Amino acid sequence: MAAKLAISCFLLFSMAMSSAMAAEYSFTSNLNPKMLRLKKEKLTHFHLYWHDVVGGNKPTSIAVLPGLSNTTLFGLVNMFDNPLTVGPHPKSQLVGRSQGLYASAAQTEIGLLMAMNFVFTSGKYNGSSIAILGHNPILNTVREMPVVGGSGRFRFARGYAQARTQFFNATSLDAVVEYNIYVLHY
Ligand SMILES: *[C@@H]1O[C@H](CO)[C@@H](O)[C@H](O)[C@H]1NC(C)=O
Ligand SMILES: *[C@@H]1O[C@H](CO)[C@@H](O)[C@H](O)[C@H]1NC(C)=O
Ligand SMILES: *[C@@H]1O[C@H](CO)[C@@H](O)[C@H](O)[C@H]1NC(C)=O
Repeated sequence: MAAKLAISCFLLFSMAMSSAMAAEYSFTSNLNPKMLRLKKEKLTHFHLYWHDVVGGNKPTSIAVLPGLSNTTLFGLVNMFDNPLTVGPHPKSQLVGRSQGLYASAAQTEIGLLMAMNFVFTSGKYNGSSIAILGHNPILNTVREMPVVGGSGRFRFARGYAQARTQFFNATSLDAVVEYNIYVLHY
């Protein structure tokens, strides 16, 4: 009898323990999107110019690893903090910075892996950012790259960017690239 009581006490105790542990480990819950004030998804179009300043005495884009191939520059890695402006001229109004890296990742063409954040510093998007990760075969007229997310006003963002080179200086390697970005966000 005493043994039976001890066993049932033990069982009750372990059940209580496991439910306490289950409660402790319940780290997810279903939320109503309204709780994060997620209302209607909207589509925003950005038209910006990205300035890759490689030459001169104030570069914003620096090779941190050299290319291993002379033809495709395979292996080259540049880290950059490039200005984003509303017009193609370098002195045009600055609205943010594109921070990240491009790496030459293709062995049979010049194809970059782009991993960058567009960090806005003016207007209603000041402090918000969008993240772009994609394939950039720079000799093509139009290159499309996915927008994989964002922060601030761009939480839950998704979309795509289209890049077109406007200007390239073969001596300094400076480039101005037009970006049209289409972003769905809340
Ligand atoms: C790249 O070109 C330079 C100069 O022509 C040469 O010395 C070097 O061996 C070449 N590198 C490769 C990986 O082909
Ligand atoms: C952007 O936000 C920063 C930090 O809150 C602030 O210092 C800066 O003045 C803002 N810039 C513009 C143009 O609103
Ligand atoms: C290209 O870059 C070189 C070297 O920095 C510079 O002397 C030249 O003026 C630039 N050309 C153009 C068209 O900007």
